[in-house]
Amino acid sequence: MSVLADHTTALRLHRGRRLRRTPALRALVRETRLDPAMLVAPLFVRPGHGVREEIGSMPGQHRLSVDELGLEAERLLATGVQSVLLFGLPETKDADGSGAWADDGIVQSAITELRRQAGEEIAILADVCLCEYTSHGHCGVLRGSSVDNDETVRLLARTAVSLAEAGADIVAPSAMMDGQVAAIRAGLDAAGLPEIAILAYAAKHASAFYGPFREAADSAPAFGDRRSYQMDAANGREALREMAADVAEGADMLLVKPALPALDLIAAARAQTDVPVAAYQVSGEYSAICAAAERGWLDRRAAALETLAAMARAGAGFIVTYFAAEAAGWLREEGGGR
Ligand code: PBG
Repeated sequence: MSVLADHTTALRLHRGRRLRRTPALRALVRETRLDPAMLVAPLFVRPGHGVREEIGSMPGQHRLSVDELGLEAERLLATGVQSVLLFGLPETKDADGSGAWADDGIVQSAITELRRQAGEEIAILADVCLCEYTSHGHCGVLRGSSVDNDETVRLLARTAVSLAEAGADIVAPSAMMDGQVAAIRAGLDAAGLPEIAILAYAAKHASAFYGPFREAADSAPAFGDRRSYQMDAANGREALREMAADVAEGADMLLVKPALPALDLIAAARAQTDVPVAAYQVSGEYSAICAAAERGWLDRRAAALETLAAMARAGAGFIVTYFAAEAAGWLREEGGGR
């Protein structure tokens, strides 16, 4: 048989381009579809009234005062986004981060206001960490220059209970302290809150991509770094142990963060557990796309949707992203997926 015959026979068997020919065919065989209901919008809440302050390092994102949240929720719900993840900038900080569990704390007030305005239409997720509330910016209380794990875990449980009492549906511990999920589950149950779910940031790398967030939330550590509690970004097997430990401790869902640099971990979490797996497209991933788009180097919309589709393809069932509202708008324009 001639080389040419071989070639044409192979082409009769498989011509990938047949199914890529028209937009309708491509839509028919698309393997991954994004849906606004799978997007979670992070929100930064700050003191004051009528404040909607743009975050310099995150174009298009704002710090909002509590009274602005009703409008924000309305805007999100109109795009089809039904979930928010809350972060707070307290009026004052102290060594223990006591603003994190104050009954009238900034996020507690935000939750109360969102519930009053949007009822159960919106799912409220609350980040559980101390770094926004401590004067030194570390994710827990210090003993000497290191973070005291077990004392911090006690305070994280107290914080989670306080956020749940304010009305959060889901608490999301992100401090990377050992045993934090078990302590939070025990705390919630003891407080009569067994229905409140835990989304564990199980495999959280010490990532350069959190840079813009630390400006947004004023949470950069005053000294040192977070490498003694957040994971080394080179480690994947360790991440799987962290995930297994969190599920064993009672995590209802797992969150992988950052997202694009850890697609392998999203896929591994999906393959090795049966709980819902989420991805967090973090501040640096967002801001990098924004900055390149501002220079005309990337198409903002195409780049954002491509990265979100990659996270879904890797196995994320839902995605925390600063593009949430914008992406939901694009998806609706495109009629439910690309
Ligand atoms: C709190 C927390 C951080 C992020 C989420 N929760 C900051 C950090 O760990 O330094 C980062 C989110 C982002 O970059 O968008 N510990």
